[in-house]
Amino acid sequence: MQDYHDFIAETLIDEQTLQTRIVELGAEISRDYAGKDLLLICILRGGLVFMVDLMRCITVPHQLDFMAVSSYGNGERKSSGSVRLSLDLKTDIRGKDVLLVEDIVDSGNTIAYVLEFLQTRQPRSLKVCALLDKPERRETPVPVHYRGFTIPNKFVFGYGLDLDEYYRNLPFVGVVDLTKYKPSESEVS
Ligand code: IMP
Ligand code: MG
Repeated sequence: MQDYHDFIAETLIDEQTLQTRIVELGAEISRDYAGKDLLLICILRGGLVFMVDLMRCITVPHQLDFMAVSSYGNGERKSSGSVRLSLDLKTDIRGKDVLLVEDIVDSGNTIAYVLEFLQTRQPRSLKVCALLDKPERRETPVPVHYRGFTIPNKFVFGYGLDLDEYYRNLPFVGVVDLTKYKPSESEVS
């Protein structure tokens, strides 16, 4: 496995900037959900690191749950094509104030699918909190109620976002230089 220093083009968002913004988002969410029955739903796996930091900045009582979706595309990195549920919730969301916590909204296909699917279960409210938004790549229009950062059309990694399932642990968001990044043998299909 390569050291990320070998292929990082730039640090797009450093650790301090991420954490400062997450404190702001937590405060905003805490104000908006005062007196409500908040359920945070982490979309695995990319949303995990963000949710763990965000929830500790939310001061109103809330519950957590997890779901996972898989996308099947036309060869582009995990983004285009159809989406299906691969891990369902444990919680009955009917009547709850649901906030989806996602790493990045790219094509919008994942969030569009999840919103449509969860709406059928009749939550009281259903909103989206995304750390990153790449609007230039949008194929399906979706609402992003809480947005950490708008970013340019570059492939990023770190802070929950992976490159072939690695590097999610890094505390910053970096841009990949795709001419230098080499997927490991086992990832090449
Ligand atoms: P969508 O295209 O909005 O459906 O996003 C699908 C998923 O692709 C996101 O939840 C991320 O997990 C992943 N993804 C999109 N862009 C990037 C990126 O730049 N780096 C890493 N993962 C990404
Ligand atoms: Mg994701």
